[in-house]
Amino acid sequence: MSELGLDGRVALVTGASRGIGRAVALELARRGATVVATSRTIETAEALAEELAQVNDLGWTPICDVRHYAEVEAAVAGTLERFGRLDVLVNNAGVIEPIALLDTVDPDVWAECISVNLVGALHGCRAALPPMLARGHGVIINISSGAASSPREGWSAYCASKAGLAMLTQSITLEFGGRGILAYGLRPGVVDTDMHVTIRASGINAISRLRREDLADPRDPARAVAYLCHPAATDLAGQEIEVRDPAFRGRAGLDDQGEREP
Ligand SMILES: NC(=O)c1ccc[n+]([C@@H]2O[C@H](COP(=O)([O-])OP(=O)(O)OC[C@H]3O[C@@H](n4cnc5c(N)ncnc54)[C@H](OP(=O)(O)O)[C@@H]3O)[C@@H](O)[C@H]2O)c1
Repeated sequence: MSELGLDGRVALVTGASRGIGRAVALELARRGATVVATSRTIETAEALAEELAQVNDLGWTPICDVRHYAEVEAAVAGTLERFGRLDVLVNNAGVIEPIALLDTVDPDVWAECISVNLVGALHGCRAALPPMLARGHGVIINISSGAASSPREGWSAYCASKAGLAMLTQSITLEFGGRGILAYGLRPGVVDTDMHVTIRASGINAISRLRREDLADPRDPARAVAYLCHPAATDLAGQEIEVRDPAFRGRAGLDDQGEREP
C-alpha cells in the first residue's frame, strides 16, 4: 500500500528524547506532520530540534516532565499558540523500573512508575481533550504493552500502570468516542531501546532473556503510530492494538518494503 501522509496535522509526542518516542516524532515529521516532540532537558530538546529540522522545519521541542501537570498543560498551550490546533497526542513517556519482586520492591519507586506511565498519560489527555473536543476531532495514542494484560515477575508496577493505561483508553472512548475523539492503545512488541537494556540487565523474567537481535527496530511501532493517526484506522478506536498482529501489520502496510532512512 502507498504510505499515508500527515500533511497539515499537528502531533504532540511525549518522551521523545530517545527510543520509540524519538522514532515516532521523526516518522510523523517525515510524513509531513508538524511535530511537538517533548523531552526533559535542554540538551535533548536541542538535539531533537536539530534532528526534526533535518526532516521538516515545522516542529517545536518543549521541555516537559509528564509527572507535572503544569508542564504538560504548558506544552499543549504552546502548541495551540504556535500552530492553532492539536490533532494527535501520543502518550509515549514511560519507565520500566522498579524491577523487583513485591516482597522487596521500594514502594516509592513503585508509585513513581504509576506517576509517569499512567498519571503522566492522564495529564496529556486532560490537557489535550478540551481543545480537541472544541474542534470535534482528535486522536490519542497511548503506548501500551503486552504487560497491560499479562503479569510478569518483577514488573508489578509496570504491568499495573499499563493495565490502567488500557482502561484510560477505554474510558476516553466511552466518554468522548461520540464526539470525535479516537483513542488507541498501541502495544509495540519487544523493541530495541534503552528500556530493553535495563530489562536485559535485570535477568528477572523471560523477556529479559530475549536476544537483542530478536528485538524490533523502534521505527516499526513508529510506523504503526503513523497509521493510527490516519482516518483509515478509525474502526480500531478504543482497542488495544498489537503491532505484531499479522492482520494489523497487513492493513497498516508495516511489512511493505519502502525506501527507509538508514
Ligand atoms: N521497548 C519496548 O520493548 C517496549 C515494549 C512495550 C511498551 N513500551 C513502551 O514504549 C514507551 C517508550 O519506551 P522505550 O522503549 O522507547 O523506552 P526508553 O528508550 O527508555 O525511553 C523512554 C522515554 O520516556 C521518557 N521519560 C521517562 N520518564 C519521563 C517523565 N517523567 N517525563 C517525560 N518523559 C519521560 C524518557 O526521557 P528521558 O530521556 O528524559 O529519560 C525517554 O524519552 C514506554 O511507554 C514503554 O512502556 C516499550
